[in-house]
Amino acid sequence: MIIKRSTGIVSSEITDEKLYTNRRQFMKQTGSLALASLAAGFLPSTTLGCQTGADAANPASALLPDELTPWEAVTGYNNFYEFGTGKEDPARNAQGFVTIPWEVKVSGEVEEEKTWDFEELVGGLEVEERIYRMRCVEGWSMVIPWNGFPLASLITRLKPTSKANFIEFKTLHDADRMPGQKRAVLDWPYTEALRMDEANHPLTLMVTGVYGKTLPPQNGAPIRLIIPWKYGFKGIKSIVSIRFTQKQPLNTWRASIPGEYGFYANVNPEVDHPRWSQATERRIGEFRRRDTLMFNGYADEVASLYSGLDLRKNY
Ligand code: MTE
Repeated sequence: MIIKRSTGIVSSEITDEKLYTNRRQFMKQTGSLALASLAAGFLPSTTLGCQTGADAANPASALLPDELTPWEAVTGYNNFYEFGTGKEDPARNAQGFVTIPWEVKVSGEVEEEKTWDFEELVGGLEVEERIYRMRCVEGWSMVIPWNGFPLASLITRLKPTSKANFIEFKTLHDADRMPGQKRAVLDWPYTEALRMDEANHPLTLMVTGVYGKTLPPQNGAPIRLIIPWKYGFKGIKSIVSIRFTQKQPLNTWRASIPGEYGFYANVNPEVDHPRWSQATERRIGEFRRRDTLMFNGYADEVASLYSGLDLRKNY
């Protein structure tokens, strides 16, 4: 498959590959992931454990450069509740997860409902590398070189009807293969959805790889969604169902805790989570907190999608 490189971040902000390789070497030597994450910021070891969370001393944090988050953190510090609720559970528990064969059922407002074999679904779509800032609703962030194709090109292939206003995704529901589903921590299967204009936006990606490699199971193999201007929970993993709908679907986190999680989940430093501020974030591997940017720094590209919408009500 062709890999075209493009990025949502200007290239001068990105760590060059040599630096990255050296850093990985360093992390191999130091061993633990926790150390590796901290080391990525090139901080002296005396700063370990001194994180205060305060950002007052760092008013220019929004201008800090973006560096790629190391592979070890991208693939070792995950949220994937189907494999456990701890950050290190998915890397451990998803190891034997088999993704061949894989089918995706396409239904709803579409010319032809059909269950697609994964290879047929994605075959011929041009894979690009996109380096995106990622912001989790919990307050941590990463910079990740994803490999995937615009969701828009898949939508064209699936031929939704003119009645399709939303697109809904579901994760595999199989507690034998996803042991975390034996506990009712969420209402399985994990479900997410987008408005069609959000889905067709060129930044919205269907991801099949990371760092130029096939997506590891803990990151949502074989196929997951990435929307860089939204909180990470919109990026549903290991998708087996795509449904086009007229009405706005109910997404898992909103169904679970409606007072805390909405449908849009746009990154917005001005709208706090009811239990914590969203004004700053901890970039994995850094010491000081950074300012969180409106739409995660992608406002120029996506703000127009929401003109006229009250973002405090529609969080
Ligand atoms: N998708 C499923 N099916 N289950 C999950 O628990 N967690 C979400 C999202 N997609 C989740 C999911 C959350 S909260 C985040 S922050 C991102 O996945 C994390 O993606 P990453 O592990 O690749 O960084």
